[in-house]
Amino acid sequence: MAKAKVKSSAKKKPAATASGRRKKSPRVERMIRVDHAGEYGAKRIYQGQMKVLGKNPRLKKLLQEMMDHEQEHLQYFENAIPARRVRPTALLPLWHVGGFAMGAITAVMGEKAAMACTVAVEEVIEQHYQKQLLELGADEPALRRAIEKFCADEVHHRDIGLDHGAKQAPGYELLYKIVSNITRRAIWLSERV
Ligand SMILES: [Fe+2]
Ligand SMILES: [Fe+2]
Repeated sequence: MAKAKVKSSAKKKPAATASGRRKKSPRVERMIRVDHAGEYGAKRIYQGQMKVLGKNPRLKKLLQEMMDHEQEHLQYFENAIPARRVRPTALLPLWHVGGFAMGAITAVMGEKAAMACTVAVEEVIEQHYQKQLLELGADEPALRRAIEKFCADEVHHRDIGLDHGAKQAPGYELLYKIVSNITRRAIWLSERV
């Protein structure tokens, strides 16, 4: 009896090639690109705040803690970009200047305004990471674990902002709205450009 032809299962298993190398997934590629951009921007925001508020030892310690986390998050995606041959966003120069400016401007407005900026940015990033975790499901367990850890750090940063008077910043509601809108637009652009 002639054996029935078995159709290739390549369509069902896009995760690996015959050589065992991971096949590129446009969805995961987009995630790495935007997360790399986001962590880069976050580090620049804290650098901007540090430039203005870093003379105060108490604030310096606080900002340094958050900046160290952002550096750790950024390093993960800095490694993932060449490892997975992902094109980074073309907008990094914009986030370099824009992130620093957003941190510095809010810091010039005062410690509480800087904390309001932190709360707005970190809440948007938390939502963004939660969305990615839902999208990933059980795929990419290592990436998933990293995002879970980073997301917990972002929630911790948000709480630091809240514990240090973010909501007492003059014009908190408006400032929160502006910063979260900018962050959402930056995410949208970094996924695409
Ligand atoms: Fe981060
Ligand atoms: Fe953060």
